[in-house]
Amino acid sequence: MRIIRVKNYDDMSRQGANIVASLITLKPNCVLGLATGSSPEGLYRELVERYQRGDINFCQVKSVNLDEYVGLSADSEQSYRYFMHHHFFKYINMKPENIHIPCGKNEDAEQECRRYDELLQSLGGIDLQLLGLGMNGHIGFNEPDEIFTTGTHKVKLTESTILANRRFFAKEEDVPRFAYTMGIRDIVHARRVVMLVSGETKADIVRQAFFGPVTPHVPASILQFHQNFTLVADEAALSEI
Ligand code: GLP
Repeated sequence: MRIIRVKNYDDMSRQGANIVASLITLKPNCVLGLATGSSPEGLYRELVERYQRGDINFCQVKSVNLDEYVGLSADSEQSYRYFMHHHFFKYINMKPENIHIPCGKNEDAEQECRRYDELLQSLGGIDLQLLGLGMNGHIGFNEPDEIFTTGTHKVKLTESTILANRRFFAKEEDVPRFAYTMGIRDIVHARRVVMLVSGETKADIVRQAFFGPVTPHVPASILQFHQNFTLVADEAALSEI
């Protein structure tokens, strides 16, 4: 595990973007595992700027997103597909057929999860998985559990996650209760994993996840065993270690 300690959110975004941009330069047809949430927003902005300057080109890049709320359609402003489009995809030259996100509108969970697992396999694995960190240690939507999950599955969101994500919805009842997420196995199989964490509110969970025992009760802790895991965190997020 490598920790890149940065001053603040903007530095975190720049350092994270450096890593992603260098991968795209070295492997133009790479598979990027993408995440949503406030943590990677700045990184996406940075990548867009680099694309606009002509420094990187996405024409051969493929992407797979970690997760999606069940029940929200692609044009719902709270869906992760909408988030990705508005923060990233609409500004760059990725081919629409190379963009993959679980379909929240597919009510047949078994079929949707199988489709996504087969897709991940057909892409030949993820070169770089980008992650944020949930307040309870979740990655993607892999919530604290008794076991580490394997492939894509439907998950019931915990109260703490519903509360944390409440800010994106008009009222708490609107926050979906279920999501589709890639499993922990899919995430740890990525050849490189980069996590972005910023702010004091994450300091306690950063300590638990990376300086405590490896346990499915804190799903991110499994990354301690990953061969190529980089945590890009700011001083506030590292203030308890
Ligand atoms: C959501 C997402 C996660 C994300 C987490 C943290 O629940 N499913 O992928 O990492 O929230 O979000 P934020 O970066 O906004 O703190």
